[in-house]
Amino acid sequence: MGGTGHIGGAVLDLLVQSWPDVEIQVLARDEQKAAKVTAKYPQVQCVVGDFASLEMIEVTCRGVDIVVNAGPDITHDETLKAVIRGLQGREGSGVKPYYIHTSGAYLICDLREPGGVKSEKVWDDVEDNEQLVSMPDTAVHRVTDKSLHASNSTKPIVKLVLSAAPHVNVAIMSPAGVTGISPSVGHPLPITMPALFQCVRAFRSAFMIGEGANAVGMIHVRDFARMYMVLIDEALTTLAGDNKADSPPPPFPIWGEKAYYFASAVDTLYRRDWFAGLAPLLQKHGVVSSREVKSVTTAEVARRVLFGDNYDPDAAAPPPDSWATHIAHGMGANLRIRASRMRALGWEPEYLSFMETMDELIPAYIQWEKETAAK
Ligand SMILES: NC(=O)c1ccc[n+]([C@@H]2O[C@H](COP(=O)([O-])OP(=O)(O)OC[C@H]3O[C@@H](n4cnc5c(N)ncnc54)[C@H](OP(=O)(O)O)[C@@H]3O)[C@@H](O)[C@H]2O)c1
Repeated sequence: MGGTGHIGGAVLDLLVQSWPDVEIQVLARDEQKAAKVTAKYPQVQCVVGDFASLEMIEVTCRGVDIVVNAGPDITHDETLKAVIRGLQGREGSGVKPYYIHTSGAYLICDLREPGGVKSEKVWDDVEDNEQLVSMPDTAVHRVTDKSLHASNSTKPIVKLVLSAAPHVNVAIMSPAGVTGISPSVGHPLPITMPALFQCVRAFRSAFMIGEGANAVGMIHVRDFARMYMVLIDEALTTLAGDNKADSPPPPFPIWGEKAYYFASAVDTLYRRDWFAGLAPLLQKHGVVSSREVKSVTTAEVARRVLFGDNYDPDAAAPPPDSWATHIAHGMGANLRIRASRMRALGWEPEYLSFMETMDELIPAYIQWEKETAAK
């Protein structure tokens, strides 16, 4: 699920290379997207449908050993429930299936914080595990299902996924910023690029919220995909009964009710430094004419994401649950996360030079815009 996406496409690419004999199905939203997947990966089968195709998702999940979901989770609780119902339907088959869910580090984001301020806290998926797996209803990646609200049991999505642990081997992947070019057939560029460009063009400069003293974790999409492969390799090896009896046991259960994995290669990239590094690259590629980094407010960013140059300073701020506000908060918030669990399982990042990555991404995005406009 989400196999045509930026993250999911990178996972699919590695999976096909690492396990050429495994049967893989990708959920594609239409025939055209399905054709793109099968043209690149002839061994992959596509199932056409979307996250609203609940019955199809449930039935398909009942027939597979591992589900990887790299699609959106916020507001898609019913889809998640269909996946879990399907996988639970495997009970009695002798196989405990696997579900790898993609969530996001917004879970730890304090939206009451004024934008651009420093936080000392680095969230660690080992040290802070208890808190992460039992976040309150106010956290962002929570369920929005009305029936659950009605029954006064608004479990966060994290809880919804982890609660399937008795029947399904579950794990949650949780990134902050994901960057880099992905081998995805549909979304080679990061999901955040359009909003970044929209704001930079509207402000006519790089920008930060307030002092830009807030910081985020960052990971290259290919390194993130390698994290999924740590889990997928383990699942496939176990399913094949190939686990070596003499290999040391993992330092903690890889799957189950505590299996919450942060995804970051670096835990602290200050936004001020990020934009100071970005400004010369934006200038070099002709997006802005100076290296200035403007200090702006969260509300201004949200409006620019929505309206770009047609910015009306008197317009009402975009709704708190809108994509524009989500992006703007992300620019001013602290999302400092440490991937201790993955490192304990032997994963190490290969990409650490994020400015080199941006130097590649900026012209790629400009090119993508040209091609899209020409269509
Ligand atoms: N990227 C980040 O920085 C970041 C950070 C935190 C969390 N996340 C989480 O990771 C998820 C994936 O991120 P991404 O960057 O890979 O996003 P993306 O490139 O936009 O990919 C999203 C994938 O989900 C599919 N999809 C979207 N809506 C769907 C629907 N209604 N039914 C079926 N499929 C649907 C898309 O299909 P199409 O190809 O048809 O569009 C695509 O395959 C995000 O939605 C978010 O929950 C990402």
